Amino acid sequence: MALKQHLDDKVRFDQQVDNSRTYVVPFIERTKTITADTTVFEVGTAEGGVLVPFLERGCKCTGVDLAPERIDLANGFLSSYVADGKANILLKNIYDDDFLQQYKGAFDIIILKDVIEHVPDQEAFVPYLKNFLRPGGQIFFGFPPWYMPFGGHQQICRTKWVSKIPWYHILPRPLYKGVLKMAGEHEITIKELMEIKDTQITIERFERIVKASGMKILYKEHFLINPIYKYKFGLQPRRQLGVITWIPFFRNFVTTCVYYTIG
Ligand SMILES: C[S@@+](CC[C@H](N)C(=O)[O-])C[C@H]1O[C@@H](n2cnc3c(N)ncnc32)[C@H](O)[C@@H]1O
Repeated sequence: MALKQHLDDKVRFDQQVDNSRTYVVPFIERTKTITADTTVFEVGTAEGGVLVPFLERGCKCTGVDLAPERIDLANGFLSSYVADGKANILLKNIYDDDFLQQYKGAFDIIILKDVIEHVPDQEAFVPYLKNFLRPGGQIFFGFPPWYMPFGGHQQICRTKWVSKIPWYHILPRPLYKGVLKMAGEHEITIKELMEIKDTQITIERFERIVKASGMKILYKEHFLINPIYKYKFGLQPRRQLGVITWIPFFRNFVTTCVYYTIG
């Protein structure tokens, strides 16, 4: 009998597949044609579901993640693609020199979906990604801006009340940490939430990083309701109102997700 967490893993995988097919792929196709010759690289691939619509089109896909258990799951879910050499799923840090040497200039599309907010020193990381692009290659980012109601990822807390309060992640670090400790959160969870607090990726900072990297924003979309809330909360995805997308700083508080393609 399948264990509950196995079923949950499959549910998570299926949601990644559906989200990628319905939102990520059409978004990328606004600026990039996808053919069977397109090479795709996902950083933070987790269960690998985001890659499935690309694999179905015959693209050669590489996915890396730092979490061994998630890489094992991805290799299981994508086993037929892995067996025929179409998917390459690796437990790997892309800063490793051997990885850079092997994959320098190898990819047409790089995907970071819900990952950039976990990565430290994004000012160095975004330009570093350019090393892996083929000429004309593009990078997709999807992330929740730091100041959105749950931009701290506090929903991952096991204690109900701290997982349901919006915006308290904006408190000064010691206070925020104090609240999490008082609620009895695990040290590991607190460490992860503090790491996200340190990265604090906002719409404005992300756009500044892109500009400084010498790349251009090719297309962007801001969401009032994140497409993944369809699966999490049964909410219909909604684009942000045009007028709000133009109000710097304030827009971060009411925008639950942003998509960008840069190149
Ligand atoms: C919120 S999950 C997103 C997974 C998937 N991209 C999706 O959209 O469902 C973030 C993933 O990024 C991975 N991750 C975080 N920092 C990373 C890094 N520097 N390199 C590779 N993976 C990373 C984590 O292990 C985790 O599996």
